[in-house]
Amino acid sequence: MSEAKTEIENMLNNNELYTELKDRAEALNRPVSRKNPLGAVAAARSPEAKTRSERASSIRKQDAGLVRGFVQETWYKPVTVSGVELKLEPLQPSIGTIVHGIDLAKDLDDAMVAFLRQLWLERRVIGFRNQQHVTPLQMKAFAEKFGEVQARYGEKGHEPNTPSVGHNIDVPDVPEMLTIMADENAPGAAANWHADATWQQKPPMGSILMCRESPAVGGDTCFCDCYAMWQGLSDETREKAKSLTAVHVGAVIHQMDGETPSSVHPVPRTHPETGQTLLYVQQGFVKHLHPSHGVPANEEAAMLAEMKKQEGRLEYTCRFKWDEGSIAMWDNRAVLHSASADFWPYSRYMERLTILDYEEKRRVPFYQPE
Ligand SMILES: [Fe+2]
Repeated sequence: MSEAKTEIENMLNNNELYTELKDRAEALNRPVSRKNPLGAVAAARSPEAKTRSERASSIRKQDAGLVRGFVQETWYKPVTVSGVELKLEPLQPSIGTIVHGIDLAKDLDDAMVAFLRQLWLERRVIGFRNQQHVTPLQMKAFAEKFGEVQARYGEKGHEPNTPSVGHNIDVPDVPEMLTIMADENAPGAAANWHADATWQQKPPMGSILMCRESPAVGGDTCFCDCYAMWQGLSDETREKAKSLTAVHVGAVIHQMDGETPSSVHPVPRTHPETGQTLLYVQQGFVKHLHPSHGVPANEEAAMLAEMKKQEGRLEYTCRFKWDEGSIAMWDNRAVLHSASADFWPYSRYMERLTILDYEEKRRVPFYQPE
């Protein structure tokens, strides 16, 4: 077991909320609810199992014998930046590129950072492999090349204080790091289309996620192209949407002293750097349009339903497979993401930093007709 994983397990075992969850799960020995996709996929893989432990061991048996190794060639674009030979592997036509051949702990001179930033703006999700040696502090240094690292959910001073396992684990030296943990005892995954913390007035410009442990199969993060979502709406809806705003409301885990945070943002958003229009409605956090527009309830429901259909269309999405040491950095303004909740009973331990734009005037979402 790697040092990082041992450290995480120690932190979990010293965490009161986690040990409570673990003790309860072990005492009840009940399968994970099928209302949660983690439970549904597990039940589909092992329908005969009556208890949680039977189901877990049956799934582990099915996956026994998997080995790690090279199986195929792939398409990539070779590029040399600052003397470093990179291989750029596209994941899908419009979004997602894996940058092979870089060491994020050292290959970060100005030319490389400028190259990565341009690639990130174009592809909106860039991924890296084999970065397990990158410490949380080095990950923060990498993040700071692109934006201002503030709190766990972006803006400082607007931080959820609801107890949860992830929030309650402090990563040494990097208080801004959010830990996202799931395992056999504490099942969970953010398995709905969303952009991070859009319930903030100034939502994160980007998020950077490091995988410290992942299952051999499953637990991918999927991304969805918000420029394509805007283009895919009917002309009529696009026209109507241009004058609308929507209310973004946080979830229970985002509450601050019992208050649920919310913000109002335009329905179409102008990307502050590329100038392109994107659909800034994701129904993870948006449940309704702002009431001041007076859109009749049936019309509002029809519009939101049309927008919802754009979320996760196969043609707009890519999947990023995790492995220990994989990192993904996404443009939180222009893609949605969702975890794939299919990996119970395996562990998935992630570390996330969010960044805000160094240019303060670009932080608040706006719409400027093209
Ligand atoms: Fe997220």
